[in-house]
Amino acid sequence: MREQLPDHVAKNRAYWDEINAPKYAPHGRRAWATNEVTWGIFGVAEAELHVLPDELEGKDIVELGCGTAYVGAWLARRGANVTGIDNSAEQLKTARVLQDEHDLHFPLIHANAEETGLPGASFDLAISEYGASIWADPYRWIPEAARLLRRGGELSFLVNGTLWVLTVPDTDGEGPAAERLLRPYFGMHRFEWPDDPGVEFHLGYGDWIRVLRANGFEVTDLIEIQAPDRARPPGDGLVDPDWARRYPAEQIWKARKQ
Ligand SMILES: C[S@@+](CC[C@H](N)C(=O)[O-])C[C@H]1O[C@@H](n2cnc3c(N)ncnc32)[C@H](O)[C@@H]1O
Repeated sequence: MREQLPDHVAKNRAYWDEINAPKYAPHGRRAWATNEVTWGIFGVAEAELHVLPDELEGKDIVELGCGTAYVGAWLARRGANVTGIDNSAEQLKTARVLQDEHDLHFPLIHANAEETGLPGASFDLAISEYGASIWADPYRWIPEAARLLRRGGELSFLVNGTLWVLTVPDTDGEGPAAERLLRPYFGMHRFEWPDDPGVEFHLGYGDWIRVLRANGFEVTDLIEIQAPDRARPPGDGLVDPDWARRYPAEQIWKARKQ
């Protein structure tokens, strides 16, 4: 019997399997080959941002939307027991090749992060870097993350900055985010851009806080990433480093399950 997936999950599965997976493999390979933990498009060091708990040794960590699983690899090298979940079999295929090349293996599960089927209260940290955090519905994946975490467990997830989401043009060819609001802030949730078939989710600040609190999380930080001096423009041209020196192009939410 064919698996019944919500329409956004089915669309994103096809998008990542058929279009994006081959494009992301080279970046995955480069990231697996490094050992420093960095975050976001400008590669800001963990030592500066403090996204992760101080101690990773022996921690049970689930990466929601792991893709090529380089974040999981960085954490596994620091002694964590990592499980990667991803909606795209093709992304996981690349992750498995890289696991073999680096002789570093941890479980990779093909599943929707909104409904993983994993046992509850089995992880100390749930993490997502542009994974479920933007491609899954927060009203479905945040409750699932809460279910997966033990009491006191932490959730950290990286998403596009809210100001960036409001100011980036509709299509890639129109250039990077500028200083004009192009769409409403109120009602932010599901986004379908005219030039790509994927479905993204972005919330306003209040809605993020409410969905986290409604699922038993205490918000512990909102790290707004500032581009470093002399940052180079990312390959997709969607963020101008000067803009990202002035406004947060990316943000990382941190929360703890009470
Ligand atoms: C930009 S990648 C981020 C992952 C990783 N940081 C990387 O760059 O390889 C986005 C990933 O989210 C996955 N994804 C999208 N929707 C998902 C869902 N509902 N559940 C789990 N993974 C999902 C995609 O298949 C893709 O591998």
